[in-house]
Amino acid sequence: MKIGIFDSGIGGLSVLHEAYHQLPDQEYIFYADTEHVPYGLKTPEQILGYTTEITQFLVDKGVDAIVVACNTATSVAIKELRKRFDLPILGMEPAVKPAVEGTEGKRVMVIATPVTIMEDKLKDLLHRVDEEHRVDLLAMPGLVEFAEREEFESQAVTDYVNSQFSSYDKDKYCALVLGCTHFNYFKPAYRQFFGDETLLIDGNQGTVRHLAEVLGLPISQDKDKKLDDNHNILCLRNTEYFFSGKEISDDETLNRLQRLHSRLEEVRNI
Ligand code: DGL
Repeated sequence: MKIGIFDSGIGGLSVLHEAYHQLPDQEYIFYADTEHVPYGLKTPEQILGYTTEITQFLVDKGVDAIVVACNTATSVAIKELRKRFDLPILGMEPAVKPAVEGTEGKRVMVIATPVTIMEDKLKDLLHRVDEEHRVDLLAMPGLVEFAEREEFESQAVTDYVNSQFSSYDKDKYCALVLGCTHFNYFKPAYRQFFGDETLLIDGNQGTVRHLAEVLGLPISQDKDKKLDDNHNILCLRNTEYFFSGKEISDDETLNRLQRLHSRLEEVRNI
């Protein structure tokens, strides 16, 4: 099957990367809207416009299903996209439910973009699942910029993460929910702040499992096997990459994508 995966930028690669683990034999079209990233600081109207255009683009390429690999775009546009297009469209939302259900007592922190935090979709979700009011929300738009610059380990990243978390008592938290696909790249920085006990929860594995279910595809027995660099290069072959409508074929950008996949492999189980 042919699966379209899109995001404002390279955050969505973390979902594609998980799909390589669970559904390695499918064909993919990955679309990053690099001309308009970050979505987290745009208006809902703008985001709806961009995502409608991208969905049409992917439909024209003949995909069987689309994953909106972006919490921000999902919170603003998913309902409307499902109305306008007649194919399975899966969205992403911060994995608050497993975080709340899988823990008790201590608090849960959700980090996301300002748009995701402001939109009703997350408020409705909290209303449904956060009965004990254990969840705190924190916007971290700066991480989207760091990610797009491929800056994952610098002192500036550590300083930013620590300063955003500084007014929270780390010992009160049992889970950190990564409510933006760009945030996966920074797991070591969260670990450093919260220590080894706090769960880091993202929605990627659940999203790909759901995709497999919707399309009736079997999940790979080897899903937890490490993807080495050669394997990643092979995977690049069953994926077409587009940045805001332009197909990526130059070595420099393909190498960049390869580096990002290597980073995602490195941090997958942190
Ligand atoms: N990766 C996106 C998300 O999951 C949004 C990042 C952005 O463009 O602000 O929310």
